[in-house]
Amino acid sequence: MHVTVEPTILYFGNPVVLISSMNPDGTVNLAPMSSAWAVGWNVMLGLGKSGQTFENIERTRECVLNLPSEKLWREVERLAPLTGRNPVPAHKEAYGARFEPRKFETADLHTLESLHVAPPRVLECPLQIEARVSAVHDLGDGATSAAVEVRVIHVHAEEDLVTPDRRHVLPEQWHPLIYNFRHYFGLGSELGRTFRARAP
Ligand SMILES: Cc1cc2nc3c(=O)[nH]c(=O)nc-3n(C[C@H](O)[C@H](O)[C@H](O)COP(=O)(O)O)c2cc1C
Repeated sequence: MHVTVEPTILYFGNPVVLISSMNPDGTVNLAPMSSAWAVGWNVMLGLGKSGQTFENIERTRECVLNLPSEKLWREVERLAPLTGRNPVPAHKEAYGARFEPRKFETADLHTLESLHVAPPRVLECPLQIEARVSAVHDLGDGATSAAVEVRVIHVHAEEDLVTPDRRHVLPEQWHPLIYNFRHYFGLGSELGRTFRARAP
């Protein structure tokens, strides 16, 4: 039997992405998000407009999408109460967020230079996607959030995650971190594959 519900959040289980972006003063911001999906080499990012990440990527038109594995959930959670925005917006202050300009150090993560964009990659993340903004769409009535469309420029993967020809990510080797109604999960074991799957 189903009942009608009014959930306060609808994060129904997406992979976590750590977005690195450049602050106006040339320092780097890093923030977790999970409202992301890909079609081909285009990725759509659902972002609150009051965050420093949105401000940075709307201004600079570039970012890196770093995908943490499930092993990194504690590092991700260290970033969760932080914002690169100063002063801290009132609604973030209300849930205990604080300004932190040195997010890599605070989360114990390390930078790796990118090839095509200014923001660095996150060394510890097995998949890193350099991207440029192609469009920004307002979301919802109050337009307090936006869907930021980015075009992938370059994909970096740890070598043991990919086939020798580097054309496929090996699903059995990749363990995304899933944000499931604000709880962190890994994936269970494989159930099957679609008829178009090509990785061995
Ligand atoms: C696992 C996780 C997933 C999140 N997903 C999103 C998201 O999809 N979109 C968003 O705008 N904020 C999301 N947040 C909240 C941002 O990380 C938070 O607003 C943060 O303060 C943004 O930092 P910034 O202001 O430096 O950009 C998420 C937080 C966590 C911990």
